[in-house]
Amino acid sequence: MNGVRREIEELRRVVEEAKLGGGVEAIGRQHSSGKLTARERLELLFDDGKYTEFDMLVTHRATEFGMSEKKAYGDGVVTAFGRVSGRNVVGIAQDFTFMGGSVGEMHAAKIVKAMQFALSVGVPVVFLNDSGGARIQEGVDSLKGYGEIFHMNVTASGSIPQIAVIMGPCAGGAVYSPALMDFIIMVSKTSYMFITGPRVVKVAIGEEVTEYELGGAEVQASRSGVAHFVAGDDREAIEIVKRLLSYLPSNSLELPPRVETGDDPYREEPYLDNVIPEDTAKPYNMYEIILRIVDRDTFLEVQKDFAKNAIVGFARLDGYTVCVVANNPLYYMGSLDIDSSDKIARFVRFCDSFNIPIVTFVDVPGFVPGTFQEHRGIIRHGAKIIYAYAEATVPKLTVIVRKAYGGAYIALGSKHLGADFVMAWPTAEIAVMGPEAAAEIVWRKELQAIKNENERTELLKKLAEEYRRRLTTPYYAASRGYIDAVIEPSQTRKTLVEALHLFITKREIRARPPKKHGLIPL
Ligand code: HXC
Repeated sequence: MNGVRREIEELRRVVEEAKLGGGVEAIGRQHSSGKLTARERLELLFDDGKYTEFDMLVTHRATEFGMSEKKAYGDGVVTAFGRVSGRNVVGIAQDFTFMGGSVGEMHAAKIVKAMQFALSVGVPVVFLNDSGGARIQEGVDSLKGYGEIFHMNVTASGSIPQIAVIMGPCAGGAVYSPALMDFIIMVSKTSYMFITGPRVVKVAIGEEVTEYELGGAEVQASRSGVAHFVAGDDREAIEIVKRLLSYLPSNSLELPPRVETGDDPYREEPYLDNVIPEDTAKPYNMYEIILRIVDRDTFLEVQKDFAKNAIVGFARLDGYTVCVVANNPLYYMGSLDIDSSDKIARFVRFCDSFNIPIVTFVDVPGFVPGTFQEHRGIIRHGAKIIYAYAEATVPKLTVIVRKAYGGAYIALGSKHLGADFVMAWPTAEIAVMGPEAAAEIVWRKELQAIKNENERTELLKKLAEEYRRRLTTPYYAASRGYIDAVIEPSQTRKTLVEALHLFITKREIRARPPKKHGLIPL
């Protein structure tokens, strides 16, 4: 047969038209505002720029406000599947060039179908958001669409990884789909997220604020903790997605992929023998510890600008994905507050959902005191950490490097909440509270009896030292089996690697009572 059949020519014409979304002019506007189009973004996401699009020919069926004349194939969203680093992924990319990527009934139906595909085969979903929100001309049909997307987000939660990238506006109730997903990556300058925009804010409470001050990437990543990563542009955002996916299994029934990192699993790190300052009141850089212990160049920090007194992120140990949780003594001496509690608890629960072992580095003098924290519910928030660790059934390995005091000791991966292997450095101090505070209470009468202040301070120092020697050393906890091993810091990597090899096949043997679901303190 010569040439292409008429029907096939017609199909090609339709596909070419569909690929233009809202048209050439709108594509030009998208580019000039520093953004890529939906299909360009998907090309960056999928291996070799190749993907299979579905529902390309969907159109809306609204008629109000001249909508019958305003149609484009795809209805403002591109849905596709393809491979990312060789593994199947479903991608959803809102197309701002048609009606500002606004969400109408059919637009939403496409998103729901894409998520159903992902969930039914157990692969991650990546949702590239760029939308003016609910399509105003479609009224409640649009809200129904959003509701169904949220329902799918919740159904998929903990079953397949869900990653949201915010690459343009994301306002009103639209923010809740990303918020229900596991990670949010925001693009600096071109994206924002808020419940109510600047105009409504001005009318409602008289506050003058710009979109970016209200909900730009930097604010959401540092102040609110809504965003987990900030990217400089669309390309970088997609690179972060790929890196993130590389640590994750495709679904909760699989293990994360193990990768050859070329780093010697038995590497010793003599530097660590001196990393903890002699003066226990002095901070140091926890990153030095983490980066020396995990496989080289594998640490991917999550929420790095939010609640800096805690550090969370993915890394590899002998090629296995692990979740790292640590205190950061450079902020509040590593104490836990509301934000760091939320940050840690959420991360631990994510890791547990997706079969990723948790490695915790502890240096925690307690919870941040004072009315500010108490009145905002540090009790409720701190309890989330306990809940998350106790609930987690993945391998839990803990290294106590310095302070592990009080409730914070219990909360952060202690044996008592089911940690599998707990190590302590000889510099560890494990106690109900700091030695000075403890001595003041234990020997209060003796101390009060001394009228001379210098003498009293001297005695307090001596008694604190006695308390430290008798009760806070790691040997005391080790004598009771609360610590499995006291190790030289330089040996931490190899001990962790060996423990990981043992516990990677851990099965949950502790019986849990039948229930619908527990109630994590929210
Ligand atoms: C219908 C919309 C739209 C929307 C944008 N467009 N948002 N159409 N419904 N929500 C259309 C515009 O009319 C325009 O169409 C095209 O998309 C591009 O928009 P521009 O305004 O030219 O672009 P820009 O200057 O970049 O501004 C983007 C914007 C602005 C900031 C998003 O469009 C805007 O403020 N839109 C309204 C946002 C809004 O109030 N959404 C509802 C939020 S409440 P033409 O034909 O001119 O090209 C909500 C509730 C969700 O979402 C509840 C879920 C539970």
